[in-house]
Amino acid sequence: MNSVKVLAKEIKEFKLSSVLTPIFMILEVVVEMLIPLLMSRIIDEGITAGNFQAIVKNGTLMLLCALAGLAAGILSGVFGSKASTGFARNLRKAMYRNIQTFSFLSIDKFSPSGLVTRLTTDVTNVQNAYMMILRMFVRAPFSMIIAMTMAFIINARIATIYLVAVILLAIALIIIMTKTTKFFRMVFKKYDALNESVEENVSAIRVVKAYVREDYEKTKFQKAAENIYSLFVKAENNMILVQPIMMGTVYTVIMLISWVGAHMIVNSALTTGELMSLLTYCMNILMSLMMMGMVFVMVTMSAASVQRIAEVITEESSLKNPENPVFEVADGSIDFENVDFSYSADSREPVLSDVDLHIRSGETIGIIGGTGSSKSSLVSLISRLYDVSDGCVKVGGIDVRQYDLTSLRNQVAVVLQNNVLFSGTILENLRWGKKDATEEECRAAAEMACADEFISRFPDGYNTVITQGGTNVSGGQKQRLCIARALLKDPKILILDDSTSAVDTATDAKIRSAMMKAKPGMTKIIITQRIISVENADRVIVMDNGRVSGFDTPDNLLKNNAIYREVCETQKSGGGDFDIRSEESGSGAKGGEE
Ligand SMILES: Nc1ncnc2c1ncn2[C@@H]1O[C@H](COP(=O)(O)OP(=O)(O)OP(=O)(O)O)[C@@H](O)[C@H]1O
Ligand SMILES: [Mg+2]
Repeated sequence: MNSVKVLAKEIKEFKLSSVLTPIFMILEVVVEMLIPLLMSRIIDEGITAGNFQAIVKNGTLMLLCALAGLAAGILSGVFGSKASTGFARNLRKAMYRNIQTFSFLSIDKFSPSGLVTRLTTDVTNVQNAYMMILRMFVRAPFSMIIAMTMAFIINARIATIYLVAVILLAIALIIIMTKTTKFFRMVFKKYDALNESVEENVSAIRVVKAYVREDYEKTKFQKAAENIYSLFVKAENNMILVQPIMMGTVYTVIMLISWVGAHMIVNSALTTGELMSLLTYCMNILMSLMMMGMVFVMVTMSAASVQRIAEVITEESSLKNPENPVFEVADGSIDFENVDFSYSADSREPVLSDVDLHIRSGETIGIIGGTGSSKSSLVSLISRLYDVSDGCVKVGGIDVRQYDLTSLRNQVAVVLQNNVLFSGTILENLRWGKKDATEEECRAAAEMACADEFISRFPDGYNTVITQGGTNVSGGQKQRLCIARALLKDPKILILDDSTSAVDTATDAKIRSAMMKAKPGMTKIIITQRIISVENADRVIVMDNGRVSGFDTPDNLLKNNAIYREVCETQKSGGGDFDIRSEESGSGAKGGEE
């Protein structure tokens, strides 16, 4: 019920259309209901009595009624489409707007492909159901009641036959619909699985091909599709019963009425015209009943979608701007004070525990550690992508939770581990860092990130178009563009999370020294697997299983830290080193897909 309220708020400017639709619908029904009555008059007063004038009069009235009904029907249709499509648009806007405020935590919760399904399939479901409700939900019961009343007015005895038929039919429909609804609900769950599999595999089609997994993926997809197919068949097998039951009832009722009616006509208790209109009302009543059944199915089918949409609209970002936010970041110092962190409240082991670090403004800090040792998690706390579970993280001496989020993130630039470029030109991509950057500024940043050299080799230079996902640049080129984009922000703190892994060591060193020269005051945090990349850092953090195992100058670590020493020795001796290989290629090793 709550979810319905949340969604109803989004009707907004389409309230009028939403009200007009059923009003015109009712108008149409009323006019339609008059037609059988006029028909009976034509027969009784005109044909039977031989009165031509009555035929013309009632015939003209009938024509006017038909025209009015047509007009009302068209208007109701127009307003109905306007209301339902507008409602869907508002829903999508509301969801999209809220998704933009999502914290990383919320994104983890819904998963990107789940959000896409909710934005598309679920909204379409609700849109169709809304249209149905506006038009049929009012029409069906209303037209049934009117037809029933009319029938009772004409002849109560015959109308009783309807009543019995309607009750029997309603029971049959309810049984069938409840059974069918169960299957439809299952179908929608399976749709989710299908969509997820399609989205995942299409977006990762290169990996699928690289691993020659097409057959496996095909079978997987076939299974998902097969599942939906068999459920639909089951659902339709039930639905198929509706038609014969309906028609069977209709014809039985018609036969009964004809039989009873004929007797009555013979006894002059009923006129031929009255019998005619009774038969028309009969069809009306039973059709309305079937429509009500359809609406019922539609509504139950979209109930799950309503809930799924409401979840997205009402999701509150766990990262809220504080009441009186601080807009100025004083300097690039970073302090971790007894920080504990886990991604979800109920996870057993914390990802980070007892981290206490103090980084001075302008320092160059290296972070090394095995995969999964929580390096990325550590730095994600600095720009407040996640909030700490315990303790606090300070930037410029102030708790990150006190900053205005935008101001903080403008001063703390992060080049994420699996970063993306967007479709558009290189310049447009760079300007993500700074909207109004001039071409000179972009060029300077690109030069610092050693990206200028390959950009200027492209025929279109800085106007080269990057395809979606950045598939037309190499892994190393992509990384350098991402670094340039972050540098354009001119932040006080720059975090590079394994951002030069696909760049050869010589270029890597060149980028670092260029940054050192151009931005000496900027605090630089470099996460890397290569010891050589941190040898010139002021200090290095050695991460081990979510804890800080050492934080000191490279020289001291070499003496005192066993992990650092071990990594140093294996990499220096060339064992398991990937740098040797990548040094040979000028533009950096081609990055594989993550
Ligand atoms: N979004 C997330 N939700 C839940 N758990 C996560 C999430 N991201 C990372 N983790 C978990 O946190 C731990 C630390 O991961 P993290 O990405 O910080 O390691 P890392 O040191 O950066 O590794 P790598 O060198 O491979 O990048 C891992 O056990 C991982 O499973
Ligand atoms: Mg990482």
